[in-house]
Amino acid sequence: MTTSHAPHDDTPPSGVRVAVISASVRKDRMGPTVADWVVAALEGSADVDLIDLADTLLPDDSLLYPGGGPKSAVADRIDAADAFVFVMPEYNHGYPASLKRLIDWHYREWRLKPATIVAYGVHGGHAAIEQLRGVLAELNVVTTRRVVGLPAPWDRLDEQQRYAPDDRLTRGLAGCLDELRWWADVLADARRSRPFPA
Ligand SMILES: Cc1cc2nc3c(=O)[nH]c(=O)nc-3n(C[C@H](O)[C@H](O)[C@H](O)COP(=O)(O)O)c2cc1C
Repeated sequence: MTTSHAPHDDTPPSGVRVAVISASVRKDRMGPTVADWVVAALEGSADVDLIDLADTLLPDDSLLYPGGGPKSAVADRIDAADAFVFVMPEYNHGYPASLKRLIDWHYREWRLKPATIVAYGVHGGHAAIEQLRGVLAELNVVTTRRVVGLPAPWDRLDEQQRYAPDDRLTRGLAGCLDELRWWADVLADARRSRPFPA
């Protein structure tokens, strides 16, 4: 894994740049364990930037305006990414407020890029996944058809407390990431070569 490439760097990237966004900010959260599993799956096929929202201070929401707000501390990292993986718990059948804030604080940085979603919860977090898809569509983010919902990942930890799901979920994640890389290539090319209809 590398965390390379300054935004607007003209040197060709060594691979697709994927920002893995870990949404939970709770104490004793499950999020980093799931995010580590995703980062390991990307190893060797992408430059990964892990953005942990627990370490991400955003400005006060009173400063928000349509299309974003004053530049945030992570704006350049989102801008530099070719694709996103959202790792998120389901809270009350929705996705966490921390993630909605991150989304609303940026605009241009998301546009015309792909995303996939790795959710988790008692039953896999599928209600939150479908909620997030609609919000991403508004930002011209293409969400992969395949996504992953992890049921009760806290019951699948190995002796080192790493997430150790069954093969079906591991293959499911690999399929999402294949789809994500395909879209990342297609959309990177399209962003360079085709004006988007206003
Ligand atoms: C405020 C809150 C609401 C929750 N609502 C749901 C829910 O709607 N569906 C679900 O499957 N789990 C729900 N849970 C349980 C979470 O899936 C579980 O606590 C998980 O560990 C949260 O992820 P985190 O530890 O990374 O924050 C909820 C947890 C919290 C804290």
